Amino acid sequence: MTTPPRLEIRNLTRHFDGRAVVDDVSLSIQPGQVTCLLGPSGCGKSTTLRMIAGVEMQDSGQIWVDGTLVCDTVFRVPAERRRIGLMFQDFALFPHLTVADNVAFGLTGSAAENRARVETMLDRVNLRRFIDAWPHELSGGEQQRVALARALAPDPRIMLMDEPFSGLDNRLRDEIRDTTLAILKETGTAVLLVTHEPEEAMRMADDIALMRQGRIVQQGAPYNIYNAPRDKEAVAFFSDINVIHGTVRNALTDTPFGQFLAPGQPDGARVEIVIRPQHLKIDFDRNGQGPLPTPQDGTPARGIVTRARFMGSESLVEFRMDHDGSMIKATVPNVFLPKPGKPLWLTIRRDRCFVFPVTH
Ligand SMILES: Nc1ncnc2c1ncn2[C@@H]1O[C@H](COP(=O)(O)OP(=O)(O)OP(=O)(O)O)[C@@H](O)[C@H]1O
Ligand SMILES: [Mg+2]
Repeated sequence: MTTPPRLEIRNLTRHFDGRAVVDDVSLSIQPGQVTCLLGPSGCGKSTTLRMIAGVEMQDSGQIWVDGTLVCDTVFRVPAERRRIGLMFQDFALFPHLTVADNVAFGLTGSAAENRARVETMLDRVNLRRFIDAWPHELSGGEQQRVALARALAPDPRIMLMDEPFSGLDNRLRDEIRDTTLAILKETGTAVLLVTHEPEEAMRMADDIALMRQGRIVQQGAPYNIYNAPRDKEAVAFFSDINVIHGTVRNALTDTPFGQFLAPGQPDGARVEIVIRPQHLKIDFDRNGQGPLPTPQDGTPARGIVTRARFMGSESLVEFRMDHDGSMIKATVPNVFLPKPGKPLWLTIRRDRCFVFPVTH
């Protein structure tokens, strides 16, 4: 017999004012796995989390934990008995309770048992020395780690995290993300993490569920979502994009960058060729000529540099293209800062571009 998922939601739907804010959402998470719900503001991420937590009721659909029904539209285990931990950005510590009392908040054992549990949890997050401190005596990152200890103290089977790291500065955030992830993996907790940030999703998730207008539009491992996005918006979620327009003839699209395959697209169909800035190649201009066309990179097209900026590990160069005046962005590793006005040639790596039909 296979073990059931730690968390499984089936066909969850929730309407507000006649609009489906969460629309037929299904997903499952195994113990120790992290799934990220990634999507734009208002797409229904927090509402999904609130239904799983039990503080919001779905209109239809079911929630299962370890193969046991926790909630459908008839039966409902109350929020406090679901063994679900919550960590939200604004889920601050109680200012009038010490660190120890904050961490003990959800515990139901004897005073001695609770104290022992609090000590264990604070050891886990390396904050035992602050056990009798007050929240205002801790830095933001330390408070966040106490909040994590508090959420984990009752030994939840599932952790729901809604942008839990967004209040922290970059360096601290990376460190706390890694600590959090290590503890959650170790305890076999299934995690559903909400974030706006693709880097955070890539860094933390085993699985990413892209959500848009209440629906999960694509789900998979970060590598797969990044490299096999289902549409232009899915590409754009992870990076800047360049879009080149074309019309299909004989399953090919002619562009100033040469021909692109458009398999399965009928003659006359409009397509968009989507390319990330790091997948354009830049070549120097030799008396008005660029590099020779190749099957891998197609035909070069010339552009004039409008702006070049150093970004730390890479440089971002913006071009106005000769053929139609459109703007294209390219990034190159290290320092490459050509002057505005300089002509350069761009080619598009055929194995790194995506061709999508225009549907609207
Ligand atoms: N109680 C409510 N009553 C009416 N509308 C609501 C309610 N809760 C949420 N909504 C609406 O549902 C939609 C989804 O909200 P939700 O909070 O789930 O979005 P989100 O994906 O978490 O967005 P964000 O990234 O901005 O936090 C929004 O348009 C919101 O206005
Ligand atoms: Mg939200």
